[in-house]
Amino acid sequence: MPEAETLHDLFVDELKDAYDAEKQLIKALRKMSRAATHPDLAAAFSGHLEETTGQIGILEEVFELLEMKPRGKHCPGIAGIIEEGNEAIEEKEKSPLLDAALVAGGKRAEHYEIAAYTTLISIANQLGHQEAAGRLQEILDQELAADAKLNGLAAMLLPLANEGADDAEEDKAPKKAAKKSSSRSSSSSRSSAAPKRKSSK
Ligand SMILES: [Fe+2]
Repeated sequence: MPEAETLHDLFVDELKDAYDAEKQLIKALRKMSRAATHPDLAAAFSGHLEETTGQIGILEEVFELLEMKPRGKHCPGIAGIIEEGNEAIEEKEKSPLLDAALVAGGKRAEHYEIAAYTTLISIANQLGHQEAAGRLQEILDQELAADAKLNGLAAMLLPLANEGADDAEEDKAPKKAAKKSSSRSSSSSRSSAAPKRKSSK
């Protein structure tokens, strides 16, 4: 955020960043809800999707309190987190293991948002924008609750993701012939410490 010259500028930049992040999350949460195997996880994502729509409305009200038009600014941080989540969805079949990966991605997004809103609230208070701070606190409370919900779901989903792991291990185990090669591998890892030439110019 190089343009921010004052704390107020930084506040506006952070607000635009959060506004864009929420918009990106609308699309991502819809995808995560569809990808989830367990109905409770799917419901958690679609429930937070509805909350996120409301959060966008709250952010628009905060812009209005500042007498500004709501405007986003691309948030590369949340884009990266969403991209990682998309990779998991593309690589894994619908399964309890994918659910575990979705919980991990969901938690990353929540923690990013928790950091963002905690900061926004502190700055709003510092600038004397009490009403804005109150509205932002409403969003933060939802993010904290969403994170706690994911913790509860993880406690239920992780044992399911681990089921069948023992059987899979048994299948693999007998095939390994204990090959003990006694040959001394005298691969001397002699690192030729060739002096690096400095391009002195
Ligand atoms: Fe959010």
